[in-house]
Amino acid sequence: MKDPLLRLQAVSQHFGGLRVLDEVSLSVRHGETLGLIGPNGAGKTSLLNIASGFIRPRAGRVLFKARDITRLAPAKRARLGLARGFQSSRIFPVHTIRHNLALALRAGDARAHAWLAGRRPMQSSLEQADEIIGRSLFQGRGDTVAGTLSYGEQRLLDLLISLAQRPGLLLLDEPTAGLSKQEAADAMTLLRAAQGGSAIMLVSHDLDLVFDHCDRIAVLNLGTLTAVDTPEAIRRHEGAQQAYLGRQP
Ligand SMILES: Nc1ncnc2c1ncn2[C@@H]1O[C@H](COP(=O)(O)OP(=O)(O)OP(=O)(O)O)[C@@H](O)[C@H]1O
Ligand SMILES: [Mg+2]
Repeated sequence: MKDPLLRLQAVSQHFGGLRVLDEVSLSVRHGETLGLIGPNGAGKTSLLNIASGFIRPRAGRVLFKARDITRLAPAKRARLGLARGFQSSRIFPVHTIRHNLALALRAGDARAHAWLAGRRPMQSSLEQADEIIGRSLFQGRGDTVAGTLSYGEQRLLDLLISLAQRPGLLLLDEPTAGLSKQEAADAMTLLRAAQGGSAIMLVSHDLDLVFDHCDRIAVLNLGTLTAVDTPEAIRRHEGAQQAYLGRQP
């Protein structure tokens, strides 16, 4: 079988005397959407930070495309295709939706082919942006100035920008926090439509969202992985129900 895209091997993390992650091993497969759920303080954000390189694990290894990246800086990981979505917006408010996307596409190129980027006409990035917009919830609105979009829509545009660069894996920490139920559903629809071949690792407290949209779900509890399985199996998993759902099966 093909190597997983991302492999966390026996990753441990301590803050002071607090053991936040205890030998967690978890893989993300090519193209899948993996949900990561667990109660507050379970270690979800810490695990995502270790995957993206924002913190170094106390022990264990991180492999991406079979390469050991445990000590690689976040920007270098991004260049390999391991990207992290941010909660703060990276949108230029004075630019239109299509220009924002085109700029992101160009920046992505600059990273991959620095020596070519200068010569690459903006026109082709704009055409690519139009194509992406045409397949998204922003269809027909490419000329809208991004700063005039609602908060929820700006978050959606942020997600679209993250995926426009076609990362192998996009790490998202509660991307729908602060959004209405409808906006959160729109965000997931947009993610799925724009996903292409990218894998997504999604941390969320919105169980409906995770169970409806993820191929597999990992349940973390007090720094330990309780289960990793399909949504159907997690629903039936006794340990997962007790750990996260807080109820007896
Ligand atoms: N920089 C830090 N210094 C000290 N303790 C930390 C630090 N970051 C996280 N922690 C602690 O590590 C534990 C796990 O935190 P983490 O943010 O990873 O959990 P989480 O699952 O993302 O929680 P939430 O659902 O609330 O976002 C918590 O007890 C938290 O207080
Ligand atoms: Mg968190």
